[in-house]
Amino acid sequence: MNDTFNVSSIRRDFPILSREVNGKPLVYFDNAATSQTPQQVIDVIVDYYSSYNANIHRGVHALSQEATDKYEQARHTIQKHFNIAKAHEVIFTSGTTHSINLVANGFSALLLSGDEIIVSALEHHSNIVPWQMLCERTGAVLKVIPMNLDGELLMDAYQNLLSTKTKLVFCNHVSNALGTVNPIKQIINKAHEVGAAVLIDGAQAAPHIKADMQELNVDFYTVSAHKMCGPTGAGMLYGKEEWLNKLPPYQGGGEMIAEVTFEKTTYADLPHKFEAGTPNICGGIAFAAALDYMNGIGFQTIAEYEHELLSYATEQLLTIDKLKIYGTAKEKTSVISFNIEGLHPYDIGSILDKLGVAVRTGHHCAQPIMDFYKIPGTIRASFSFYNTKDEIDILVEGVKRAQNMLQ
Ligand code: ALA
Repeated sequence: MNDTFNVSSIRRDFPILSREVNGKPLVYFDNAATSQTPQQVIDVIVDYYSSYNANIHRGVHALSQEATDKYEQARHTIQKHFNIAKAHEVIFTSGTTHSINLVANGFSALLLSGDEIIVSALEHHSNIVPWQMLCERTGAVLKVIPMNLDGELLMDAYQNLLSTKTKLVFCNHVSNALGTVNPIKQIINKAHEVGAAVLIDGAQAAPHIKADMQELNVDFYTVSAHKMCGPTGAGMLYGKEEWLNKLPPYQGGGEMIAEVTFEKTTYADLPHKFEAGTPNICGGIAFAAALDYMNGIGFQTIAEYEHELLSYATEQLLTIDKLKIYGTAKEKTSVISFNIEGLHPYDIGSILDKLGVAVRTGHHCAQPIMDFYKIPGTIRASFSFYNTKDEIDILVEGVKRAQNMLQ
């Protein structure tokens, strides 16, 4: 690992990490739900509202120009980070859910009854429900790539699902509930062999893995800024130009038009065709600042450190009697979903909260995964590069304490 990585100094960038919760130092292990924000990004948000808040692409005045320049620079930063061929293939959205709905809505115009859509068994509800709605609108049929007990997709079964009827394949890059890293390159290549388009939900991968859009040759990829040190309500849809040109606009409104009359409207070129209304200007700019911050540390360094945390936490948690980890894939990000036999995840989560430890409990918006394991939910601890082994020790002690209290 990079010798200059110093977690104590990184923690000082995150003001929230020095607060207390319920009289105890905060131990924040709910990073898969939302990450914390470094001062460098907070400063960018404050600077936007303090010095150049204005609407973009609309005004001749200096503030509008300045805000427009910063917003378009942010698009370029995102383009560079994800190695996207053209800046107009970056569509600003409010996050992954918005991005997925935009694509699902667009495909209503392109699918026929009997066409097939494939999703994976590991999906978040946001990558299931919009496609079910699309199937209802078009008569297309939804098929599911099954998984094994480790939480890995069965690639032979995937191969068998593919046919010339397959028009779309949707899969997350990383499972939010289990942390499995899916073999997306293989998933994309196989889908392309039958002429299907592929959308990869990168919400849980982007904070850990720097994905290269040209290398992946993916058709659509989605990201939420708030999972990677940025603000909520900002995100990206990457789409290949040829696909974005085929899809109709998602929302009508200002800035997405070329010309409007009461008889007919023509649409603006990319990316504006998909960016109706006043966007989250500050959010887009802060998203780019978050990427700059994380690139300053380096994604290789982040991944190596988070893997150390994952191995340590897995080892330590497994010393606890009756504890079972769900999601034991060979390739994982720093997420551990677990239960203690006979105890409800919510009860353990509530006791951990009293001890200042923030975890998520429940089905994690991935009910089919919980159904697969025949459980109501799990306790999920998700680690970021600003977490420490000492914090993991507090979690482990907390779980033991909860177990003693509840049994
Ligand atoms: N999708 C987010 C999570 O997994 C909210 O917690």
